[in-house]
Amino acid sequence: MTPEQFQQQLLGWFDRHGRKTLPWQQSITPYRVWLSEVMLQQTQVATVIPYFERFIATFPSVEALAHADIDRVLHLWTGLGYYARGRNLHKAAQRVVDQHAGIFPNTLEQLQALPGVGRSTAGAILSIALRIPTPILDGNVKRVLARFHALEGWSGQSAVQQQLWLLSERYTPQLRCADYTQAIMDLGATLCRRSKPECERCPLQAGCQARALGVQQLFPYPKPKKVLPVKQCWMLILRDQPGRVLLQQRPPVGLWGGLWCLPEFDSREALQAYVDGANSASQALQVLPEFRHTFSHFHLQIRPVVARAEGGWAAGVAESKDCWYDLDRPLELGLAAPVKRLLSQLRVGGAD
Ligand code: ADE
Ligand code: SF4
Repeated sequence: MTPEQFQQQLLGWFDRHGRKTLPWQQSITPYRVWLSEVMLQQTQVATVIPYFERFIATFPSVEALAHADIDRVLHLWTGLGYYARGRNLHKAAQRVVDQHAGIFPNTLEQLQALPGVGRSTAGAILSIALRIPTPILDGNVKRVLARFHALEGWSGQSAVQQQLWLLSERYTPQLRCADYTQAIMDLGATLCRRSKPECERCPLQAGCQARALGVQQLFPYPKPKKVLPVKQCWMLILRDQPGRVLLQQRPPVGLWGGLWCLPEFDSREALQAYVDGANSASQALQVLPEFRHTFSHFHLQIRPVVARAEGGWAAGVAESKDCWYDLDRPLELGLAAPVKRLLSQLRVGGAD
């Protein structure tokens, strides 16, 4: 498909099916387009509509917004989330008033210098409000282009991002750039959805590589998941004669800092040696099913083991910082998450 065919297909579809009655598509001005684009950065159209209308009713011009109290602005923003957007909105309005005499600038560079305005938002303002053909690349457009070209790689990688911008530039037409910009966003929002795209109704289907290969779902590539290393540990559930469980407090800094944990060992042998030290004769260990606890930077594979301690040994514990934890009358201690899980399983199991 040539860029001209791509544009013709998309604009023909837009004329028949595109959204044309959204509030920011009426009485188009740079102020209204900017406001709507910032609101739409992380929020769905249906949510944005009433906020947009209240904002415009309260602050009908960029001057009104610039002179408003920030608290009033943030109050009107309440519920839209990502409040830095609301603060940036206010700052950007002040800058437009102070540095541009209240008239939105008409270059990418000057628009991008406004707080909260990135390249795509600036492109949308130029294309839609000022009819200066400029590419955009929001999430919807990325998805359409990545699928259409079966473009591999995650868009967080700069080479992929650059490729997407080149494609967006290639397809952005000189004529009808405002409709085109709205059209490609609408296509991404309605037919070329994240899940279950409706390719049979898509105006670009004849040239779409992902559709030709039946692999629409693969695009856009997601952010790669970090492969976390796996560490192992043996956790001892040492029970005294009344059935209490031995807990130890972690040092104040580091993993689980200050929380109470079961004694932990690098090997089964080390655990066995510790248990044998608590008893006059070697003890049988009862191994429970292992499970995994995930930290931000590694997985901990936990092997819980139940063992008994003789009454005599328990006396020494009273003198250390360790504690015997009574499952039926639990102390209010800060427990590490997997320890809490193991203890509550013991409680449910009712085993002594
Ligand atoms: N998302 C971002 N900009 C939009 C617009 N102008 N219309 C609909 N959805 C959008
Ligand atoms: Fe998206 Fe399907 Fe259209 Fe390709 S054919 S652009 S995957 S909706």
